[in-house]
Amino acid sequence: MKNSILIFASITTLAIGENLLPEDFTKCRQKDAKLNDCLKSAVPDALRRMKKGIPELSVPPLEPLLVSGMNIESGAGPVVINQIYRNIQLHGLTDSILTLYKADLKHHRLRTDSLTPKMEFIADYVMKGRILVLPIQGKGIANITMVNLVVKHELIGEPVTKDGETYMHMRDYKVKFIPQRVILHFSNLFNGDKALGDQMNRFLNENSDLVFNELKESYEKSLSSVFQDVTNKIFDKVPMNKIFPED
Ligand SMILES: *[C@@H]1O[C@H](CO)[C@@H](O)[C@H](O)[C@H]1NC(C)=O
Repeated sequence: MKNSILIFASITTLAIGENLLPEDFTKCRQKDAKLNDCLKSAVPDALRRMKKGIPELSVPPLEPLLVSGMNIESGAGPVVINQIYRNIQLHGLTDSILTLYKADLKHHRLRTDSLTPKMEFIADYVMKGRILVLPIQGKGIANITMVNLVVKHELIGEPVTKDGETYMHMRDYKVKFIPQRVILHFSNLFNGDKALGDQMNRFLNENSDLVFNELKESYEKSLSSVFQDVTNKIFDKVPMNKIFPED
């Protein structure tokens, strides 16, 4: 009896102590002369395997990726709109490919460019403001679809030592969004006045570059912190030499 408890205890310690990447993830060795090429294919492959998340590491499902909320208070300029988004769903991230990867593990920095064929941002919204000379207000469902979205990611990490293991914690995560095209649709604008709503949605799409440019920075800020959280779910739990084996 005593023995079996002891064995059970040591097995659980092992299971808790050893946080590893899932078996089926491609591992890229730190000293690989083609480390960047390896990561360029391993990372999107891992994204596809994370569609349903990784429960053991508390990584949430990525398809869709849920974001609780986002508030935008766009100040001066041609677009002044206060917007509240809740229950945000991001669809399409796991279809991304990487066009560039630059890992500088010595300085704990990663830089990558991704291309997402179609990223849909679907959320409950409330907004009120003005675009050019037109007032806009509504409360309903927003669909902001970015076609051929290039995202430039810059991850700045630092080594953190816990229980003799080194982790690569990401303390900063910057993104830049460069969509080829943005399609906007807000349901139930102007308290459901269909004629006004259709007209405004048309107007928004005719001016989507202007609208998106005014809102881009807020989207980038909110989404970079979401990407940072997901990355750190893995990087804070799996030691660096288990993500990037040393030999
Ligand atoms: C969002 O808009 C895109 C582009 O118009 C469309 O393809 C997609 O089906 C829409 N998604 C939802 C959930 O309405």
